Amino acid sequence: MDFMELAKNRYSIRNFSEKVIEKDKLAKILEAGQIAPTAGNYQPQKVYVVQSEEGLEKLRSLTKCHYDAPTVLIIAYDKSKDWKNPNEEGVHSGEQDASIVATHMMLEAWELGIGSCWVNFFSPSQVAEEFGFPENITPVLILPIGYAAAEATPASWHEQSKELCEIVEYL
Ligand SMILES: Cc1cc2nc3c(=O)[nH]c(=O)nc-3n(C[C@H](O)[C@H](O)[C@H](O)COP(=O)(O)O)c2cc1C
Repeated sequence: MDFMELAKNRYSIRNFSEKVIEKDKLAKILEAGQIAPTAGNYQPQKVYVVQSEEGLEKLRSLTKCHYDAPTVLIIAYDKSKDWKNPNEEGVHSGEQDASIVATHMMLEAWELGIGSCWVNFFSPSQVAEEFGFPENITPVLILPIGYAAAEATPASWHEQSKELCEIVEYL
């Protein structure tokens, strides 16, 4: 599958089978997050793998968008380690870094036949508190991840992309 084919094929999975991701496949997915580009190569990302019943139960209580996935990744960044933009006070790279890390993992997973759904419908501070993250760790998104259930289908809007001319402007 070439990249455009993979990018077009991928869709958010919200219906998972109980089959747990094999260790070697999970390792590849995590490696894709490890090698993602980050600002200044500072690598402030933290990826938490939640597979314990206790951890999954906590997540279920913190968001309705857990989709009963047997594995959930919490993708966060360390705000003491991200790149600080010297051109503008308060602008820093953590969310961008965490996002590209998550994108790498989501696409590598799809290549391995594993689905996921990017979720930001939760309170980052509640997640940090419930999981006892250090004060400098900021969760950005969670990624319920696993094999799609046989009946999983793309959402009706999956193929609805705006026209290029609406989103691209040559200056
Ligand atoms: C930043 C971001 C936040 C999202 N948050 C949620 C979410 O909280 N819950 C959810 O079910 N899907 C969430 N999604 C998935 C989007 O709804 C989905 O990617 C979009 O509708 C396009 O559908 P597709 O991924 O199937 O192509 C999120 C996606 C992105 C990129």
